[in-house]
Amino acid sequence: MNHPSLRHLIEPEDFTIEEIKKLVSLGEDMYKNPSKYSDICKGQILASLFYEPSTRTKFSFDSAMLRLGGNLVGFADANTSSAKKGESIADTIRVMGYYADIIVMRHPKEGAPKLASMYSEVPVINAGDGGHQHPTQTLTDLLTIQVYKGQLEGHTVAFCGDLKYGRTVHSLIRTMARFKAKKFILISPEELELPSSLKRQLQDQYDIEIQEARYIEEVVEQIDILYMTRIQKERFFNEEDYLKLKNSYILTNDKLENAKEDMIIMHPLPRVNEISYEVDSNKRAVYFEQSKLGVYVRMALISKLLEVGPYARG
Ligand code: CP
Repeated sequence: MNHPSLRHLIEPEDFTIEEIKKLVSLGEDMYKNPSKYSDICKGQILASLFYEPSTRTKFSFDSAMLRLGGNLVGFADANTSSAKKGESIADTIRVMGYYADIIVMRHPKEGAPKLASMYSEVPVINAGDGGHQHPTQTLTDLLTIQVYKGQLEGHTVAFCGDLKYGRTVHSLIRTMARFKAKKFILISPEELELPSSLKRQLQDQYDIEIQEARYIEEVVEQIDILYMTRIQKERFFNEEDYLKLKNSYILTNDKLENAKEDMIIMHPLPRVNEISYEVDSNKRAVYFEQSKLGVYVRMALISKLLEVGPYARG
């Protein structure tokens, strides 16, 4: 029987705007004062089950749990687990719930973490499922926006690159709509446009202007937040299509000539070649700080789901 207050994070809509704001604000405090929280997860164990490669998400969750005084189990290669022998997600999750207090799962199949949450007696966090959702990247992105722009509401946000398969975009754009973004600018090749169902949802549910463009330079002067993304090679059905599109966007300092002074450039990383290395020293580039902030907002999320520290009951 599941605990009555058991919560999971499968998609950003699982949390209200107020809950997200509180998480972002706690993440900021954890970033500024990490020692205040250094043992709130003492005696608790986080399991990370990564059926797909990761650097930032896997290790920032590990780092977050260790910084909270907790411990870790898990795998970064499903071939070393009994998934290799054909074990189902449902069975794996049932068992891992005996070994850990909270589970973080990345899986190439859309919906796998949702399925896991249905069989789990401990909180499950979606660390990315196929081209679908990446809610903890969204929390990371929101903390970055809060730190660098001072507020989450009212921005003109441009999403550039692979808007079709990019799960970070799918999660963030819906969340920024909930935070009353001023305008979205969608910059992609025709083949990698935002799914039309998501575009329709944004137009029907939220009263936000959407502009589409093929080139960054066409629209750069309007942008408050430029969210660059990698072309998602692993989601393509054939190599030829990927090769045709892989260099669609390469951001250079020239292309930023007319950008606002206080525009920020974000990227969930890893980058391949969509941002030239010369941009790293541009004052607008915040993508490495973004990956650092991911640790602290994940600390906040673990605290919330385990109901410890500021989220302790009674
Ligand atoms: N941003 C992100 O999800 O990176 P990883 O694939 O390295 O976890």
